[in-house]
Amino acid sequence: PPATPQYRPSYHFSPARMWMNDPNGMVYVNGTYHLFFQHYPDAMVWGPMHWGHATSQDLVHWQEQPIALYPDKLGWIFSGSAVVDKDNTAGFGKNALVAIFTHHNDPEEKKKTNKHQYQSLAYSLDGGQTWTKYAGNPVLPNPGIQDFRDPKVSWNAAAKKWIMTLATKDRITFFSSPNLKQWTKESEFGAKLGAHGGVWECPDLFPLTVDGKTKWVLLVSINPGGPNGGSATQYFLGQFDGKKFTPDQAAPPTKWVDYGTDNYAGVTWNNAPNGRRLFLGWMSNWEYANQVPTSPWRNAMTVPRELALQRVGKEVYLTSRPAQEVAQLMQPGAVHLTGLPVKTELDLTTRLPQPLSDKMRLELSTAQLTDFSLVLGNKRGEELLIGYDKKANQYFVDRTKAGPSGFSAKFAGRHPAPRRATTAGADLTLLFDATSVELFADGGLTTMTELFFPSEPYTTLKLRSSAGLVISEFDYAKLAPDAN
Ligand code: FRU
Repeated sequence: PPATPQYRPSYHFSPARMWMNDPNGMVYVNGTYHLFFQHYPDAMVWGPMHWGHATSQDLVHWQEQPIALYPDKLGWIFSGSAVVDKDNTAGFGKNALVAIFTHHNDPEEKKKTNKHQYQSLAYSLDGGQTWTKYAGNPVLPNPGIQDFRDPKVSWNAAAKKWIMTLATKDRITFFSSPNLKQWTKESEFGAKLGAHGGVWECPDLFPLTVDGKTKWVLLVSINPGGPNGGSATQYFLGQFDGKKFTPDQAAPPTKWVDYGTDNYAGVTWNNAPNGRRLFLGWMSNWEYANQVPTSPWRNAMTVPRELALQRVGKEVYLTSRPAQEVAQLMQPGAVHLTGLPVKTELDLTTRLPQPLSDKMRLELSTAQLTDFSLVLGNKRGEELLIGYDKKANQYFVDRTKAGPSGFSAKFAGRHPAPRRATTAGADLTLLFDATSVELFADGGLTTMTELFFPSEPYTTLKLRSSAGLVISEFDYAKLAPDAN
């Protein structure tokens, strides 16, 4: 495919070249956020997996680093996590970084035994720059489960052990270890709970606080079977006692981290400072990730997000907001408008700096939420719609006509998301970066991430409403990683 520099995101991480999928090994140490990722450095499609590597001091400026882990005789390097071994439990060294990942071996063996995925270690004694694979790999052999992968490991202070949360086909299996090398199975969760439209992948387990109490959040990505097709990440809320996850409700309703089509395999940073629970996902979908029309790279990550819990009536929801560091990207020329009545259509284009940036943050609030759409358009008649449908009580992103979508029959469409807030008023934050929009509604109670590929940049921004929407505040800021 021809090079498409206009599709390159600026503040979202994308590899300089070639293929990327899941975020891996996210860990914070010595002032640096590490982001490893599923990477095939030889093609723009999925293939023999490596761990690519990028680092950041602030979550919004990323430097790509040399490849951290290459395939070896035990297999390709699938998804996993990384920890700081402060007490040298594994014996690799005090404060060693230890990566725990899935080795995926010869597909021929898969057909015979189902034992083709198992967990292995690598360590770094130089803050993540170079890695050595552990000579005793694998540390967790496969008992014969076809999908046995994506270990997320973290230290459990109560149990005084490492806990591994592992995706095992249609359920999560928890293992514990004193030293990252010997693992004991503790329990299983979820074979009959939640969404099961596809295989379970890339889990995460962490505590958050709500109503002054600790609740444990279990993230489980599934593919396919997402709310708008293909890949998506569900979550469960409950208690974890160091051995077993017990959900709050016997039959919990399925809840999704993000209702858009393009946020998958997301997990949180280990060892993040100040108790922050920082999340980042792969901003794509297995339905078309191998076909999206970008070159010479394919796929990007979401913006880093701060997770929290919020109660609404009887339910508790996971909320996502852009990490506060995103505000550092604001460029001069921000626009603040107030009291905008939308009668059928309000064209805001000329009230914003020209030409319209494709890397921007919009914030809208209203005292009375009703039907509306925000429409980005270009001279070719391509339109991206983001809005709210009052009757259905749903936010939506409609990319049906956002640009050519012939690369995949699964791409075009209108995608709804339930509104969780019950307030009359609403606030929306929208982050745009070349080919993506991330919607955070009602303080992050509803989140949608969606890709779009206009054949030329959008030049107009309009608000439409047939129901008399009044926008109380509208804020525009251009976002860029460098000062203009
Ligand atoms: C999720 C996933 C993981 C696996 C990796 C392989 O997108 O399928 O389960 O480890 O991608 O690249």
